[in-house]
Amino acid sequence: MKLISIAKEFGTPLYVYDAEMIRQKYQKLLNSFPYSKTKLFYAMKANYNPEILKILLKEGANIDAVSPAEVLLAQKIGFSANRILYTANMMTDAEMHEVHGLNVLFNIGSLSELERYGKKFAGNKICIRFNPDVVSGHHEKVRTGGKDTKFGITLNKVEEVKIICKKYNLTIVGIHEHTGSGIPETVDMMSGLKNILKIVTKNNFPDLKFVDFGGGFKISYNEDETDHDYAIFGAKVVELFKQKCVEYGKELAMYFEPGRYLVAESGHLLVQVSTVKENSGKKIIGTNSGFPQLIRPMFYDAYHKIRNLSNPKSELIEYDIAGNICETGDYFATSRKLSKIHESDILSIDDAGAYCYSMGGVYNLRAMPTEVLLDGETVRIIRKSLSNKELVRQVLKESSLN
Ligand code: LLP
Repeated sequence: MKLISIAKEFGTPLYVYDAEMIRQKYQKLLNSFPYSKTKLFYAMKANYNPEILKILLKEGANIDAVSPAEVLLAQKIGFSANRILYTANMMTDAEMHEVHGLNVLFNIGSLSELERYGKKFAGNKICIRFNPDVVSGHHEKVRTGGKDTKFGITLNKVEEVKIICKKYNLTIVGIHEHTGSGIPETVDMMSGLKNILKIVTKNNFPDLKFVDFGGGFKISYNEDETDHDYAIFGAKVVELFKQKCVEYGKELAMYFEPGRYLVAESGHLLVQVSTVKENSGKKIIGTNSGFPQLIRPMFYDAYHKIRNLSNPKSELIEYDIAGNICETGDYFATSRKLSKIHESDILSIDDAGAYCYSMGGVYNLRAMPTEVLLDGETVRIIRKSLSNKELVRQVLKESSLN
């Protein structure tokens, strides 16, 4: 079905996701690592819409969860506890208790949290998150590895990890690393992976079941980039991993935690042009959405393809595509050449399936858009926007004034 008719049927702003694309991306990535013990843990922070989680549940995915509510939601959708890995970030004791009660495996990335966890839950199994000492990612805000970030236990602290685990009889069943998001070069992924494999020895970790290499698989946001294929990289990784397993003396499972790669390209944010204006020679296109509904361009200077669905093939004109928020930086794109735009045209902001809705908010009191799922020829609402009156009612309710 055409995006423009979906926009007409459901109104704008509107998030549209293509279910089949998500299935295909999942299978494509899984098949890129031809090893019977490869498992993908979907980083649900990328998009936690329940219907998207259900698609991935059916495909056989597991879940990378980073908050108690993510674990609870994944379990509600049907992911059993053994299909969820909980990667804690600056965990409080209350959070630790809550998630422990849900029976999922913890991935712990700090010595102090490990100590606290051990004191409370001696004798348990755990996974340890190490910092792979590689700096990479599409923007400085999403580079996770390396000495200057807050993540993981540095590789030189293996002995300290072993001492704490011995003290509390904790069994380390997994080793984890995550280098960054949207990693531009597979050589960086390979470096992270190799660094982590260096510490995987029987002597260090005698009871391992898996090594988790995190996420970071990129997609092509630009028009001129080709679709990224991980098959060649995957074959190399599998070969290396198998060798490592021989050294280790046991076939270990190999985990990855893709977020963006699985869902980004399935999504579009459809917006309508409300205002065409010109300020000091700049052609400004005002839309009925804004950065709280898709923050990546403003937050990371991220590039998202934009298409004028109402007038796809005409002369190209340079525009700034702005949002409806009372803030200067509220642009989806600047100096972008698009086919001629008129008021009430529908634009598609592409590759909006990952880290767009999920990073959204209601700043300026504009409700998040409705989300719909396209599956073959059917389209259905998978989360409904609030009307202005409903949004105000919710604000009053949350502040107990209602
Ligand atoms: N595993 C861990 C431990 C992570 O921290 C992340 C992402 C992932 C997996 C998934 O990474 P992916 O495969 O999606 O690259 N909001 C940013 C991305 C932040 C990623 C945070 N962690 C963006 O819009 O680019």
